[in-house]
Amino acid sequence: MTFPFAKEREYFPILNEKIQLSSCSQSALSRQVEEAIAAYMETLRHTGMDWNLWMDKVEEAKGHFARLINASVEEIAVLSSVSDCASSVATALDFSGKRNQIVTTEMDFPSIGHVWLAQQKRGAHIQFIPAAESVIPLEYYSQTVNEQTLITSIPHVSYYNGFKQDVRQIAKIVHEKGSYLFVDAYQSAGSVKIDVKEMDIDFLAAGVQKYMLGIPGIAFLYVKGELAEKLEPVVTGWFGRVNPFAFDIKHLDYAKGARRFETGTPPMVNGYAAAASIGMLGDIGVQRIEAYLQNLSSVAIAYAEEKGLRVMSPLDLNQKAANTAIYIPQASKAEAILKEKGIIVSARNDVIRIAPHFYNTEQEVMAAIDALADLPAGL
Ligand SMILES: Cc1ncc(COP(=O)(O)O)c(C=O)c1O
Repeated sequence: MTFPFAKEREYFPILNEKIQLSSCSQSALSRQVEEAIAAYMETLRHTGMDWNLWMDKVEEAKGHFARLINASVEEIAVLSSVSDCASSVATALDFSGKRNQIVTTEMDFPSIGHVWLAQQKRGAHIQFIPAAESVIPLEYYSQTVNEQTLITSIPHVSYYNGFKQDVRQIAKIVHEKGSYLFVDAYQSAGSVKIDVKEMDIDFLAAGVQKYMLGIPGIAFLYVKGELAEKLEPVVTGWFGRVNPFAFDIKHLDYAKGARRFETGTPPMVNGYAAAASIGMLGDIGVQRIEAYLQNLSSVAIAYAEEKGLRVMSPLDLNQKAANTAIYIPQASKAEAILKEKGIIVSARNDVIRIAPHFYNTEQEVMAAIDALADLPAGL
């Protein structure tokens, strides 16, 4: 396949020095993001303080994210991490009644499981859906979610092996039982098409450090329009108020829409970076990116198998996003060895994750697999 993103690859200077295949953890830095961060610093250096401009940038980032997932900007709250987003949602729910069950999965990122487990003190009962080999079969959801389930929490794409779930079908199953659906899209946003309306998602959270090409410290929470106003998160702060600048300490009102889920001062410099990086994704188009990444997945799977490596990701491309996980028992050591060779990949437990973005080539993916196949025996 001819490489379709030659012009855009130039945005990422690090690719002249390194093979960076770590988008499941941290994507490559673009000149646009670097310049956006410098622009924020300039405001501090030369203007001193410019709240209106800073807030405009955070709003711009929100707008780009809203478009990326087909939401309206009023349905987006800005927070600092995906864990914060989950906590914010959790504290808006009441577990004191009969419908007090949270269904989540063993494929969720641990932090999300921890947030749900913490709700046990508030009356919640937690039910974990296991994985079967590298996937979660749809019927596990119909077998587990029931009339006691208040919320079902799923990862769109697994951080471990890139397994991609059929969110639309899961939404159907859980909504039939009257449960809300929370989707952690940190491993999909920016590389997989998301349409919260078509998928019928109630809550969705995603940070910017991974496939959204930004930096840590900022995350977005989507809350379905008609739902937001029924909920009052207990994790809160002045930015969740109708008018944050009213400075009325004795009056707890909740802003319209998803903004009621915000807490304190938004992450400003991160907002600058996010406006630049998510704006770039919107210009390029996630559908084009997703199609190209599917091609890289087929290259990664075929070449890893040819080299005798064990692929821990689903082999069916319809069930897989960009991350191809290769079984390496001592993965952290392998990550360090590849880093020495200028190849940046990411270890988790017993796998090395090869997680390309649109700026990576087939040759880079194959070079990483060659390096894994050349690892000393016993690793
Ligand atoms: C799928 C997924 N969810 C959540 C997280 C944690 O996000 P945060 O640190 O923003 O809470 C990660 C981090 O790797 C992740 O991969």
